[in-house]
Amino acid sequence: MTQDRLLVTDTRTGRQYELPITDGTIHATDLRQIKVSDDDFGLMSYDPAYLNTASCRSSITFIDGGKGILRYRGYPIEVLAEHCSFLEVAWLLLNGELPAQEELDSWVALVKKHVLIHETTKKFLEGFRYDAHPMGMLISTVAALSTVYPDAKNVHDPQVRRKHIVRLIAKMPTITAYCYRHRFGLPYVYPDPELGYTENFMNMLWRLLEPKYIANPVLARALDILFILHADHEQNCSTSTMRTVGSSLADPYVSVAAAAAALSGPLHGGANEQVLHMLDEIGSKDKVPAYIERVKRGEVRLMGFGHRVYKNYDPRAKIIKRTADEVFAVTGYNSKIEIARELERIALEDEYFVKRKLYPNVDFYSGIIYEAMGFEPRLFTVLFAIPRVVGWLAQWDELLRDPEQKIARPRQIYTGHAERRFVPIQDRKK
Ligand code: CMC
Repeated sequence: MTQDRLLVTDTRTGRQYELPITDGTIHATDLRQIKVSDDDFGLMSYDPAYLNTASCRSSITFIDGGKGILRYRGYPIEVLAEHCSFLEVAWLLLNGELPAQEELDSWVALVKKHVLIHETTKKFLEGFRYDAHPMGMLISTVAALSTVYPDAKNVHDPQVRRKHIVRLIAKMPTITAYCYRHRFGLPYVYPDPELGYTENFMNMLWRLLEPKYIANPVLARALDILFILHADHEQNCSTSTMRTVGSSLADPYVSVAAAAAALSGPLHGGANEQVLHMLDEIGSKDKVPAYIERVKRGEVRLMGFGHRVYKNYDPRAKIIKRTADEVFAVTGYNSKIEIARELERIALEDEYFVKRKLYPNVDFYSGIIYEAMGFEPRLFTVLFAIPRVVGWLAQWDELLRDPEQKIARPRQIYTGHAERRFVPIQDRKK
């Protein structure tokens, strides 16, 4: 079979080139042969914000943004959210296959074994101001774990990688719970090995004087579903950060800390917290049209709307919307859902949003559920980070096994001065 090729004519030289097309892409380095002279560096592609650049081959997550499809390892997200537990999905993302019962049991047991954090890490957490944002605390604490586990630097050893992947997945809820309780001056609650992943997280967050904390099963399952939905999302900003930092062979703790820092921004995982602030600012359903006008005038963005890849309804948002009703049946109605539904209704009919294909994304409804469940908005992005650590680590592991990968190092178009004459300080003008 003949290979598909792209025929390119360089009008600067009149030369023609044939560039192989593989998997719907041309190799950017194939452009380098296109030169105007021998000492020319060669043609580069310019793609700020990576709008049209594939940076890796990955077999983990598939998204069709136009059709609103999301699959982990080939399984539709809707099916996984309905039938699986979060740790089952974590195994799938990390290993490529759904676990058999025996595999799942030993995986769950292994994660449980690693939930404790070192007592010095607890002291580290105590050093934060009482009102420190939990996302800043999480990022710093995960980075600090790098000092607790120096062997994690041995990133070329698959067994070492696996050990620290388990540790990170196991410890994220513990660190988060400690960050939360620190703010209220509450004593830290040690993990309860009898509880499942989400139930134990809720126990560490909210247990007070009761001898045993029993989470409401509907809420624990809702949290588990939310964790499944957030577990991976291919090459988004934080995952690309994980891969970039990981490509320098930095250890997984500092790499995850960097990825979490990327997640914290309001355009990425920080959006869920911003949605709640936005709904508070709007205040009531009748104020929605005026707010939409502000969005259209470019004064504010409609947080929780729009996506780089989805140009259709985010499939995760659909599942979250359904889960909201189950949560409200337990917690009572949260009036913010009315404002959110009205925002969605008006936005989906409005030409501004229709033309730009702006639909609710995963963050639009998640905050409302989290709040109804008793989470404060400051914790929302951390709730995103807990499950996303699985995706970051699966992608990091894939990166380190990929012979095509090297240290990430983009090029630039230099727009500064050509060489200049040095001026001694006494001769410089202000
Ligand atoms: N509200 C109002 N206008 C918007 C919005 C929005 N939320 N999102 C995009 N637009 C407009 C934007 O102004 C631009 O209009 P124009 O063509 O007239 O300049 C057009 O739509 C394209 O926007 P863009 O900024 O070029 O799109 P992008 O792909 O660079 O940005 C995004 C994607 C998610 C950053 C953006 O849609 C946004 O800022 N959304 C709000 C923040 C948010 O909800 N983030 C969570 C993303 S999903 C979870 C995650 O992965 O973290």
